Amino acid sequence: MSNQMNVTVDQTSVMKTYARFPVTMVKGKGSYIWDDKEDKYLDFTSGIATCNLGHVPDYVHEKVQEQLSLLWHCSNLYHIPSQEKLAQLLIENSFDGQVFFCNSGTEANEALIKLARKHAEMSGKDSRKIITFKQSFHGRTLAALSATGQEKLQQGFAPLVEGFQHLEFNSFEALKELENMDACGVLLELVQGEGGVIPANKEWVLKLAELCKKNDLLLMLDEIQTGMGRTGTLFAYQQYNIVPDIVSLAKGLGSGFPIGALIASNEVAKAFEPGSHGSTFGGNPLATSAGLATVQYLVENEIPKDAQQLGIYLFGKLEDLQKEYPQIKEVRGLGLLLGVVFEGSALDVVKQLLAEKVLTLTAGKHVLRILPPLTASIEEVDLFVKTLGDILASGNN
Ligand SMILES: Cc1ncc(COP(=O)(O)O)c(C=O)c1O
Repeated sequence: MSNQMNVTVDQTSVMKTYARFPVTMVKGKGSYIWDDKEDKYLDFTSGIATCNLGHVPDYVHEKVQEQLSLLWHCSNLYHIPSQEKLAQLLIENSFDGQVFFCNSGTEANEALIKLARKHAEMSGKDSRKIITFKQSFHGRTLAALSATGQEKLQQGFAPLVEGFQHLEFNSFEALKELENMDACGVLLELVQGEGGVIPANKEWVLKLAELCKKNDLLLMLDEIQTGMGRTGTLFAYQQYNIVPDIVSLAKGLGSGFPIGALIASNEVAKAFEPGSHGSTFGGNPLATSAGLATVQYLVENEIPKDAQQLGIYLFGKLEDLQKEYPQIKEVRGLGLLLGVVFEGSALDVVKQLLAEKVLTLTAGKHVLRILPPLTASIEEVDLFVKTLGDILASGNN
């Protein structure tokens, strides 16, 4: 592929925090998105694991429309029906506890870190240290960035927030280290998304959870990318036979409306009292009506099950491609959070797919990240696989 498709440094007043492709998106529906030239793209990024029900899903659209004509904002000094209902629905479908609402993933992790520290103080623990893992990604605000296990993202932002230690992911040796560490909790992604689509080993997670229980460490999960049905269950932890103390959510929770959340057990949640933490927009009527409709739709229509089945189907098709094309080194992931590891540049493959009007992502230099809407059809998956196969057959990668 020529460099014609290279990310543009175009004339824009928007800060260059993202390397953007030279495409302007204006409309979406289901698994498709249209640019300003009316070209139609198959979107297997789902807005980076956000539009899990596809673009502008009818049910969510209808509910947000109703809320739009009722009330947009009133602050958290009053009760908000959609906020209360969404919290209740999340609890009914996870574990007994309470929910805090904010506006993004990184904010959910900020709240998680503050809650863990406050809970440690409340329990008379000396250590405020939180253990996280190498290659992890927890967000861009300063504490979430400090929790993140990728030095390249932290470059230039020193001094970072103190109190984090990064251990080797999926390593039993690291668990031995953890055994003797003074800490108040452990934070991890069950599938490292940005870090390369690396699923946590089930046995390792069980051991880690056991260790947390034994050493009185909070088990905290960042389900910002893995949550909301993405991995084949509403939350990825439901496939790992564990019950966490805290879970952070965002992305797929609002079908594209900015919303983040924290679910914490009752015991942990009580560390937050009025005044401990807050957010002007967090849990706002519009965002939580989008969240409520999204979760209702996911649960009532058993969408995570569809994601599981479609994930198995797509995984199999990708393995078939791997047998045919030596450029593919590995296929990995869980549900519809899938990674194809290439010998060469994954960005080159993304660009070639873009030229064929198919959207995908990378996760590091060599991993093509595939995040179809959970509602995608078999035909759409087949179209994706055929397009990728044709590109591999052309041998330009
Ligand atoms: C696992 C994980 N945690 C946190 C974040 C940060 O979320 P946000 O970009 O909404 O702040 C992301 C975003 O990609 C993520 O994948």
